Amino acid sequence: MFKLLKKNMRFTFASLIILGILSLSYCDQNNSDTADSNTKNSNTAYIQKGKTIASATFATLSGNLQKAMKEGGVPNAIKYCNLNASPLVDSLSQVYKAEIRRTSLKVRNPKNKPTTKELQQLEKYQKSMEAGEALKPLVQEIIPGTIAFYAPIHVMPLCEKCHGKAGETLKEEDYQVIQQHYPEDKATGYASGDLRGMWSISFKK
Ligand code: HEC
Repeated sequence: MFKLLKKNMRFTFASLIILGILSLSYCDQNNSDTADSNTKNSNTAYIQKGKTIASATFATLSGNLQKAMKEGGVPNAIKYCNLNASPLVDSLSQVYKAEIRRTSLKVRNPKNKPTTKELQQLEKYQKSMEAGEALKPLVQEIIPGTIAFYAPIHVMPLCEKCHGKAGETLKEEDYQVIQQHYPEDKATGYASGDLRGMWSISFKK
């Protein structure tokens, strides 16, 4: 019992650290030259809301991922990188009345393929990344009354175990298991620091 408590506390603590790191790296605010101050204020509020949802979702996912990896390696942890398979992420989207997605130029699950608007933003992030610029979260009114929040997702060392270079950071036998589940997988070859994709979180104004 005590052991279990200790374990849970460790994960809660890890999530807090991650939240802290995320909020630090998300410090930059979006500024539009043409926006009047009212729009700016509401944009800031929407960006804040998006960041809160992304941080909470990430903390949930990565806590589960790390626990499952420790218990049974990559084959055991595969299902924990799927937002739709997480009841906690599901309740987060209900609490915030938001659609929570992650997408990428190279997806593992075809369901995460970018929409036309997402693709445009992913390409912008990719270009900025190549130009050595800082990538900032931003918001857009995608359809009247609906706000989309976008924020970059970077690769960390933990991610390489499933998204790294096959035969190197991503073990060959793990890669085979991943391919069995995701025959159309394109999400490998990444190194720590790379742009993996982005959050796409939408909610009503
Ligand atoms: C245990 C293996 C594993 C680890 C570790 C892992 N992922 Fe994944 N990742 C997956 C799987 C499997 C999917 C497909 C999930 C689905 O079905 O939606 C995925 C999907 C994604 C997606 C959605 C786009 C796509 O390719 O379908 C992003 C973004 C992503 N991962 C980022 C990360 C990041 C960032 C990390 C490190 C913090 C990470 N992953 C760690 C296995 C992993």
